[in-house]
Amino acid sequence: MKHFLKETDVARSELPKLFALARELKAKRGRKGAPTPLRGQTWAMIFSKSSTRTRVSFEVGIHELGGNPLFLNRNDIQLGRGETIEDTARVLSRFVHGLIVRTFDHSDVERLAAAGSVPVINALTDFLHPCQIYADAFTVAERWAKGTTGAKLVDSLRGRKIAFLGDTACNMAHSWILGANHFGMKIALAGPQSFAPTKEFDAFLAREGYAGGYQFTTDPFEAVRGADVVYTDVWVSMGKEEETKERIRVMAPYVVTGKLFAAAKKDAYFMHCLPAHAGEEVMPEVLDSPRSIIFDEAENRLHMQKAILATLAAKRRR
Ligand code: CP
Repeated sequence: MKHFLKETDVARSELPKLFALARELKAKRGRKGAPTPLRGQTWAMIFSKSSTRTRVSFEVGIHELGGNPLFLNRNDIQLGRGETIEDTARVLSRFVHGLIVRTFDHSDVERLAAAGSVPVINALTDFLHPCQIYADAFTVAERWAKGTTGAKLVDSLRGRKIAFLGDTACNMAHSWILGANHFGMKIALAGPQSFAPTKEFDAFLAREGYAGGYQFTTDPFEAVRGADVVYTDVWVSMGKEEETKERIRVMAPYVVTGKLFAAAKKDAYFMHCLPAHAGEEVMPEVLDSPRSIIFDEAENRLHMQKAILATLAAKRRR
């Protein structure tokens, strides 16, 4: 892995090592002798969108790995005044050891990676949110393969079914489709036909080697039948605020209610990348239920991202 822009940037053969490292870093957190592979390094974080979990988990994670996080709001640097992405990448590559980027257009992270000479991590684009999916997969694997690590964690994902409800054309839906295929899971999505995955996304999925690797339905009960995980996200993604009224209207049948959640497997987990709008895309009886693991998945952003940072830093040293 040279960069982490999409789920498939970690080869399937590398997954056990990455999951084992996340497990190790989680266990050793705050302990004497915890690894500091980013010692002496500065990682720049260029953010064009709001963030709580991603920003804080990366800043804390880089610090805990011995490095220095440098937060740059896009509008505080010349990028916000028209300096090109390519020149920004070339200049920052002379100063820092890696870039963590949250932006709108997915091509921004690809251009930064192509023009610069340091690793780039996608901290969310309008198209994909791979850091979230890796933390999510680690969160359920920890439960399904309790007390194990490495290959057993990754193997525990194989054949499991995730149901994704609501806006099935958003970055989280895209990332879960790609991630589920990469991890050997099955995925069914339910939402309004007007928010189904697009032909462009299907073409991307085919290029990644997973053509047709999902089931889409407009029936939420069909999607959750036999599901091990029921997942949703906010209906109004960042940048789509002007569509709020219409989105809430068409997505109303896809609220994760207690009744819908009960149609999944008895031991299914509820997951949400957060922030959540209780009473909108998910009802409080599910969000606050014992099967909801939303705060563990939020915490695991830290451990999995530290594993990704450490892996990229190690590759660079070779
Ligand atoms: N889930 C997620 O990425 O949260 P933030 O937008 O708060 O970073």
